[in-house]
Amino acid sequence: MQLAPVHRDDTSARPRAIQIRPPRREDGPAVWRLIRECESLDDNSLYCNLLQCTHFADTCAVAEAEGDILGWMSGYIPPHAPDTLFVWQIGVSPRARGRGFARRLVGDVLARGICAEVRHIQCTITADNAASWALFGSIADALEADMARHAHFRRDKEFGGTHDTEFLVTIGPFSRDDLGLRPAA
Ligand SMILES: CC(C)(COP(=O)(O)OP(=O)(O)OC[C@H]1O[C@@H](n2cnc3c(N)ncnc32)[C@H](O)[C@@H]1OP(=O)(O)O)[C@@H](O)C(=O)NCCC(=O)NCCS
Repeated sequence: MQLAPVHRDDTSARPRAIQIRPPRREDGPAVWRLIRECESLDDNSLYCNLLQCTHFADTCAVAEAEGDILGWMSGYIPPHAPDTLFVWQIGVSPRARGRGFARRLVGDVLARGICAEVRHIQCTITADNAASWALFGSIADALEADMARHAHFRRDKEFGGTHDTEFLVTIGPFSRDDLGLRPAA
């Protein structure tokens, strides 16, 4: 997957260097605030985000511009599926959308050693989240991989009528060796 370089945050008066990196424990509050800025993301507790920023840091990523957290991806490798990266949430600040940050966040995690055995990406998406369908469709295209979907957590069954159905999306199989990804710094 070729990732378009993003060198600056154009909302700033001067160019700001963008860094995509694993989260650190001190990022927790900024990540929690960013998720609240992202309209279609479910809130989790700050404690949950702190666990993601520590125990799951190797499969999570932030996009940072000089201390400003503009993007977040949480993910993990399910214990029963060591060849799968499950993407839990991706959120990019409305100030920074449309510049390839979301794709870069996924690409950065995929390029890490912990994903050496990964051949599939999974996530869940609600039917009305056009941006998310476009993002994962774009990732599947870039990986030249199939993308399958089916109802997973259903509104009336698993959610008890409280949440729209989440469709499980599976991208793959793909070969990480063919992605053209640079190892993360
Ligand atoms: C979804 C989201 C993370 C995308 O972030 P982004 O940094 O703007 O996405 P990118 O710039 O990396 O775009 C990746 C691809 O998705 C497409 N895309 C992104 N947003 C889109 C939109 N609103 N409508 C149509 N296509 C869109 C881009 O055109 C691009 O496709 P391409 O590679 O074929 O050109 C961002 O819109 C967001 O935070 N939304 C709210 C939270 C959310 O819904 N998260 C996903 C569910 S977990």
